[in-house]
Amino acid sequence: MEKFMLCTLMLFVMTRFVHVNGKILYLGSKCSQTRNTTGNYITIYQANLKTLLDSLANNSPLQGGFMNTTIGTGSNQVYGLAWCRADVSPTTCSKCLNETIRVPLRDCPDSKGLVIWSSLCSLRFSNESFFGELWNRSSSSGYGRHTLDEASVFSRGFSMMQALGRNVSNQALMFDTGVIDVGNDGKRYGLGQCSRDLSKFDCEKCLEKLLVIYQRFVLNRTGWEMLGVSCGLWYDDVKFYDNDSGLTT
Ligand SMILES: *[C@@H]1O[C@H](CO)[C@@H](O)[C@H](O)[C@H]1NC(C)=O
Ligand SMILES: *[C@@H]1O[C@H](CO)[C@@H](O)[C@H](O)[C@H]1NC(C)=O
Ligand SMILES: *[C@@H]1O[C@H](CO)[C@@H](O)[C@H](O)[C@H]1NC(C)=O
Ligand SMILES: *[C@@H]1O[C@H](CO)[C@@H](O)[C@H](O)[C@H]1NC(C)=O
Ligand SMILES: *[C@@H]1O[C@H](CO)[C@@H](O)[C@H](O)[C@H]1NC(C)=O
Ligand SMILES: *[C@@H]1O[C@H](CO)[C@@H](O)[C@H](O)[C@H]1NC(C)=O
Ligand SMILES: *[C@@H]1O[C@H](CO)[C@@H](O)[C@H](O)[C@H]1NC(C)=O
Ligand SMILES: *[C@@H]1O[C@H](CO)[C@@H](O)[C@H](O)[C@H]1NC(C)=O
Repeated sequence: MEKFMLCTLMLFVMTRFVHVNGKILYLGSKCSQTRNTTGNYITIYQANLKTLLDSLANNSPLQGGFMNTTIGTGSNQVYGLAWCRADVSPTTCSKCLNETIRVPLRDCPDSKGLVIWSSLCSLRFSNESFFGELWNRSSSSGYGRHTLDEASVFSRGFSMMQALGRNVSNQALMFDTGVIDVGNDGKRYGLGQCSRDLSKFDCEKCLEKLLVIYQRFVLNRTGWEMLGVSCGLWYDDVKFYDNDSGLTT
């Protein structure tokens, strides 16, 4: 995945590459608020934020790869949510979140809110409650290899992913996998997932929107990913989702 090509919906305040499981994964993030150094307000908020991030990184992998929690009271309250791709093991989830929480602590320690997402996990926190709200203001898409499929194969695979996108929200854990046999070219595998706090309606909308925005960017690609803060889609010609032991099994 060294030559991961990317397309993003908007400019991030910062972008990073991290290593998880030896693979380089794209990480997009966006600090949403600015510094407030007056009084001890920010200090208490930051202490709560540190507690929150540690809790998300330590506990999400043990809770099926999804967690939302709240720390503090009044104006120092901080809301946080994290999720990992459903097929990864608790160890991979933990590694991904450990890497992820370092970004806000290192790069925007004064921020009151942040969204951050990568191939395997997503993290969001804010001083305002956002549970159940779809984040649709930034996302990214990428492909790791330069292999191209014939247009007809791509089109069949893409239709499978559109169907998968409609199926995900009906699953209790809001993830689903799909496979299609494309004859001589083998099989194409897909995984779709939403952050479990979303409504069925928003989950479907989130996935559908990724497919609409990034279809041109991934055209004819044999493998691709479309990643958002609230949902994601992964597609490849290898059964990538059976390689790790899984969070929800
Ligand atoms: C900054 O912190 C002070 C408390 O020390 C608070 O009164 C003020 O509203 C904060 N400003 C912003 C923009 O959050
Ligand atoms: C998690 O989010 C749900 C709404 O989606 C909310 O009812 C619940 O209180 C939240 N849990 C925590 C610990 O904040
Ligand atoms: C969250 O922080 C922003 C920026 O400091 C502030 O304007 C807003 O009022 C805060 N919201 C809450 C619920 O404290
Ligand atoms: C993640 O960080 C926690 C706390 O520092 C640590 O206990 C855990 O072993 C780390 N997990 C991985 C996979 O590195
Ligand atoms: C995001 O979703 C909100 C609420 O559904 C909607 O009003 C807004 O237009 C959407 N924004 C984008 C960029 O799609
Ligand atoms: C996709 O394949 C079709 C048919 O072979 C071709 O016309 C088109 O230029 C290809 N598009 C890209 C972006 O590779
Ligand atoms: C979507 O769900 C329908 C009905 O359960 C099923 O027939 C179909 O195979 C599913 N498609 C995918 C791609 O998951
Ligand atoms: C998953 O495992 C298969 C066979 O064990 C291998 O060919 C493939 O490259 C692996 N995929 C990923 C994404 O690691």
